[in-house]
Amino acid sequence: MRSLIPDYLAEALADVEADVSGEPAGYIPELAAADPDRLGAVFATLDGTIYGAGDIDTEFTIQSISKPFAYALALADRGFDAVLAKVGVEPSGEAFNEISLEDETGRPRNPMINAGAITTHSLVGSPDLDPARRVTRVVEGLSAFAGRPLSVDEAVCASEMEEAWRNLAIANMLRSHRILTEDPRAVVDGYVRQCSVLVTARDLGIMAATLANRGVNPLSGEQVVAEPVVRQVLSVMATCGMYDAAGDWATQVGIPAKSGVAGGLIGALPGQLGIATFSPRLDVHGNSVRGVSLFERFSSDAGMHVM
Ligand code: DON
Repeated sequence: MRSLIPDYLAEALADVEADVSGEPAGYIPELAAADPDRLGAVFATLDGTIYGAGDIDTEFTIQSISKPFAYALALADRGFDAVLAKVGVEPSGEAFNEISLEDETGRPRNPMINAGAITTHSLVGSPDLDPARRVTRVVEGLSAFAGRPLSVDEAVCASEMEEAWRNLAIANMLRSHRILTEDPRAVVDGYVRQCSVLVTARDLGIMAATLANRGVNPLSGEQVVAEPVVRQVLSVMATCGMYDAAGDWATQVGIPAKSGVAGGLIGALPGQLGIATFSPRLDVHGNSVRGVSLFERFSSDAGMHVM
């Protein structure tokens, strides 16, 4: 088994390597410069064993894959009622950067689209926490999910902030509806820092395995968040994790998942496995082209379809 799985993963990577469609994210200058041909895949089992092939120790920014984990931290820190009062759980079927606020309340539809994720970021920690300490809490929380100390890529963060007009517009809308109660720029700055945390495919595999393992990190043994929080996070990943491709994903892959525009993709099979892939070429939805192909193959080969 120890050599069979890496061999299987290497074969799967070799099969998708020929697909050179898609480009790295263009709207963040630092990401546009990424090597488009990096490719890696990890299976992380719940006893802490990591099976991997390809570029599994190359660092890249976590981007939107931070969203389910920040949602977990917000739920743990503020409780379900406080978070649900500000962010819904309905799939929007829209692009990740859609404004997408409910008509009357201005409540974002779910925590995976940017409007919901910016709000979720503001809900991490206690209500009076200053923005810098909130970022520290987020980075430490992501690190607990990964089982090692993570850090922020300052160059990617600065590059995204220079072009963050749309997220600033979303945050201003949220502020006008009193969904945000702080300076919108400070919240977007914190959210972009959260997205700029550096991870590897290995880290993402362990983070996904922590979700699959009811919130217990398989490497450190730490219960990072309580089981009901993990259940909520997995449900939202299942319905909203792939944005406007969520329906295709549910039918073709059927694994609770989350993508990021730096090319990462995670899937969590409850009680079984954490899966992560890395390939920066993106499709029109902002999801990794080769990552989606790999997950389709894993799901079909191993009968992983659970949704
Ligand atoms: O909000 C943004 O634009 C990014 N920092 C994160 C977007 C992202 O990863 C979308 N997912 N595929």
